[in-house]
Amino acid sequence: MRALVSLALLICLIISINADYTPDWESLDSRPIPSWFDQEKFGIFIHWGVYAVPSYSCDTAAEWYWHGLSEGSKCTKEFHDKNFGSNFRYGDFGTSFTAEFFDPNQWADLFQKSGARYVVLTSKHHDGYCLWPSFESWNWNSVDVGPHKDLVGLLSDAVKAKGLHMGLYHSLYEWYNPYYLKDKESKGASQDYVNKVLMPQLKDVINRYKPEVLWTDGEWEMPSTYWKATEFLAWLYNSSPVKDTIVVNDRYGSDTRSKHGGFYTEENHDDPKQLTTRKWERCYTIDKSTWGYARNHDISSYFSSEELVHTLIKNTAYGGNLLINVGPTKEGTIPTVFQDRLLDMGDWLKVNGDAIFKTHPWRVQNQTQATGKNIGFYTSNTGTVNYIMTGWPVDNVVALNDPKPSSNASVELVGFGKLKWSIDGVLKVMLPPLTIGQLPCKYAWTIRLINFK
Ligand SMILES: *[C@@H]1O[C@H](CO)[C@@H](O)[C@H](O)[C@H]1NC(C)=O
Ligand SMILES: *[C@@H]1O[C@H](CO)[C@@H](O)[C@H](O)[C@H]1NC(C)=O
Repeated sequence: MRALVSLALLICLIISINADYTPDWESLDSRPIPSWFDQEKFGIFIHWGVYAVPSYSCDTAAEWYWHGLSEGSKCTKEFHDKNFGSNFRYGDFGTSFTAEFFDPNQWADLFQKSGARYVVLTSKHHDGYCLWPSFESWNWNSVDVGPHKDLVGLLSDAVKAKGLHMGLYHSLYEWYNPYYLKDKESKGASQDYVNKVLMPQLKDVINRYKPEVLWTDGEWEMPSTYWKATEFLAWLYNSSPVKDTIVVNDRYGSDTRSKHGGFYTEENHDDPKQLTTRKWERCYTIDKSTWGYARNHDISSYFSSEELVHTLIKNTAYGGNLLINVGPTKEGTIPTVFQDRLLDMGDWLKVNGDAIFKTHPWRVQNQTQATGKNIGFYTSNTGTVNYIMTGWPVDNVVALNDPKPSSNASVELVGFGKLKWSIDGVLKVMLPPLTIGQLPCKYAWTIRLINFK
C-alpha cells in the first residue's frame, strides 16, 4: 500500500516536472528566465554579414546598407554608384565577404578577456544572408557564397570551449524575400514565408547549434500570430534540445515588445531610470551610430572605455544586462578599436567583477557625492553592499546616506584593502591617498560594505 502511494506521488511529481507550456502568452510568459542569464550580466553582440563588404554608414547603420540603397538614402546611393557602379547589386557583394583571417579561437579569447559571459552572433540579418549552411537560403549563405565556412558552427564551438554561453540573433523578416513580400501584401492571409523559410530555419539553428540565447528581431511589421510565435516558443520550451537553458527576448511581433516573451529589450544609449519586475537587457553599440562595421567612421564615433564601464555599472545597478556590440570586417578581423575597448572592460572586471556578476539591485540605486558631484551606483550580494564610484572624491571622503552597519561590519576598497569608516549621521568612508600608479583600476572604484543593510 505504502509503495503504491509513493509510486503515485512519484508519477505526480514527474508529470508536474514535465508540465508543458501551452501555445498562448499567459502560459509562455509564466516560464522563469533561466537563472544563468541574470547572473552573467555582460555579453558581446556581433553584427557580421555581407554588409561588412561595403562597410559604409551615412544616414543609416552599416547593416542597413541594402535597405538604404533601395529605399532612397541619397548618400548611400551616391557612395554606391561612385564606387561600385549603379548596376552593381547588393547580392554581388557576397563573393567579397571573404573572412580569410577569421580565427574563431582568437575571437573567443578576446571575448573571454573582455570579461563577457555570453556571445550573440547574427545568424541571419534582415538581408536574409545566413552565416550557416541554411537549406532555405540556398546560395545566400556563408558556405555557398563568400567565406565557404559555417561561421555559426565555428564560432559556437570556440565560444563554448571557453566556457562562455553562446547565443544567436535571428531576423524574423527579410526585407526582400519574395515569400515575405507576398505575405505582407496579403496582410498575413498567406504565411508562406513563415512556413517555408522562418520556422525551418529557426528549428535548424536551435537543433544544430543549441544556442542558449535566441535573440530575435525584425518582428515589427507583422503581429505575433503571423510569425506563429506562440507555437514556436511552446516547441522551444517543451521539446527543443535547449528547453531548460534557452533565453529569449520580447521581439515576437508588433504586439510583443515589453509585453511578452523572455527578457525585455532596451536598445542603445539611454540611462535606466527605475527598477522593473521583468528582467531586461540593453544592447549597445560601441560605434555610436551603427552595428555593422563602418569603415568611414573615425574615433569620434566610438564610445570610450570609461563610458562603456560606466554604462555596465548603471545597467547592473538597475537589474539589466548589457550586450555590447562589435562589428567585424569582411576579412574576419575585429577592428583594434573594439579590441581596445573590450580589453579595458576586462581589466576593470578582473578587479571589480564581484560587484557586477551574480549581484542584485539594492534598495537604493545611486548616490551623488557632495564634493566633485561624483555619482556612484549600488549593487548587492548576500550581506554585502557595493558602492561603485564613477569618480574619485576630491577630499578622499565618501559620505553615504543609506547603508546601515551590523555590529560586525567592515569596509574595503576592492583591489586595495580595509578602509577606515565612521558613522557621523551618515556613513563616512576614508579613502587612502593613492597615487595614480597605486589605484587598483581605472574608470570606477568599488567600496565593498560588508555586513551592511
Ligand atoms: C539616481 O537615483 C535617483 C533617485 O532614484 C533618480 O531620480 C536618478 O535618475 C538616478 N540617476 C542616475 C544617473 O541613475
Ligand atoms: C555578521 O553579522 C551578520 C548580520 O548581523 C550575521 O548574519 C553574520 O553571521 C555575522 N558574521 C560573523 C562572522 O559574525
